[in-house]
Amino acid sequence: MAKFSRIDDIQPFHVMALLARAKELEAQGRDIVHMEVGEPDFPTPQPIVNAGMEAIRQGDVHYTSAVGLPELRQAIADFYQSRYQVSVTANRIVITPGASGALMLALGVVMKEGDEVLLPDPGYPCNRNFVRFLSGKTRSIEVDASSGYQLTLKHLKDNWQENTAAVIVASPSNPTGTLIARDELMAMADFVKTKEAWLIVDEIYHGLVYENEVSTALNINDNIIVINSFSKYFNMTGWRVGWLVAPVKLVSDLDKLAQNIFLAAPTPAQYAALAAFHPETITILENYKKEFKHRRDYLLPELKKLGFKIEVEPQGAFYIYANCEKFSHDSYQFAYELLENIGVAITPGKDFGENKANTFVRFAYTVSIDKLKEGVKRLAGYLAEKDS
Ligand SMILES: Cc1ncc(COP(=O)(O)O)c(C=O)c1O
Repeated sequence: MAKFSRIDDIQPFHVMALLARAKELEAQGRDIVHMEVGEPDFPTPQPIVNAGMEAIRQGDVHYTSAVGLPELRQAIADFYQSRYQVSVTANRIVITPGASGALMLALGVVMKEGDEVLLPDPGYPCNRNFVRFLSGKTRSIEVDASSGYQLTLKHLKDNWQENTAAVIVASPSNPTGTLIARDELMAMADFVKTKEAWLIVDEIYHGLVYENEVSTALNINDNIIVINSFSKYFNMTGWRVGWLVAPVKLVSDLDKLAQNIFLAAPTPAQYAALAAFHPETITILENYKKEFKHRRDYLLPELKKLGFKIEVEPQGAFYIYANCEKFSHDSYQFAYELLENIGVAITPGKDFGENKANTFVRFAYTVSIDKLKEGVKRLAGYLAEKDS
């Protein structure tokens, strides 16, 4: 039988196998400290849950328009105005099944078969798989601490090809939690525009930036597509609602593609998301955010004390990307070693690319501070013994 090469080219999340093993150990009665999971541990705020349940009770369970519920598109437009003082018309907003759906749609309309997309390595792993699935090519650009693990204008200039159609960045980033400085982002956006290409800016972790004020990339120029989601800041991962903001000229193509790929985002979840911007919900979310910051401020110095090298401090998201070369030059094997020996689960670097992946791991502080303390205690005992 002929080989279906496109699917062969798609990588699984390696951490899923590790998570399965962690669950197996838990079923055997072991206590596992989960620092591998990239989703908030908090419950969805009650006003959102109530709005979702009410929608189901009312029978709001039919397809919405493929680009989403008009009220939700408007609520998101209002959110850009109130949060960033940026004026966006609701007809530029497309509601999607998570940021995942938004990334897929955006790439689907801006690239042709054989086009190239520039990505940072390390970076969010699905992006390269989306591009491959769409018969495009990715150029993964190695980034390091000197640019806060983010792409810069120089990277774009050095790597630009005739067939480069788009660049994807995330600020804050997964796995590093680092931001792109506004002036660098503007310089990149202007360069991409001169090339008549697209800058896709993933702002999914925007709500979770702990010190700096962040501004959306939306008002830089009109060759930008912004991706966002209710998954992370809004604690709605499983509801599967996200969105993108694109120039009006792309919306009919996005609509067409959405109709074909997923028809619409889940309707009750879209109604639930309408409550995400209510002041009482925001109060709950800001408390969650404070807790995430508290966890980061605890975990970051503790990991450094243990001997992990963290050259750039994360400013947002809920991740710490740490160099583990003091303990291992095979971070995949190291992650399994920690899981089996001390029940601490973390994500190996190879889930985020190939750039020095063997000497990096990602810690997610998506568990309670007490659990983090337990994880640090176990690591301290085990790593000290390993060192001696
Ligand atoms: C950078 C980034 N973008 C997009 C996503 C997809 O999120 P969702 O589809 O749940 O909105 C994730 C999930 O971890 C992510 O880390």
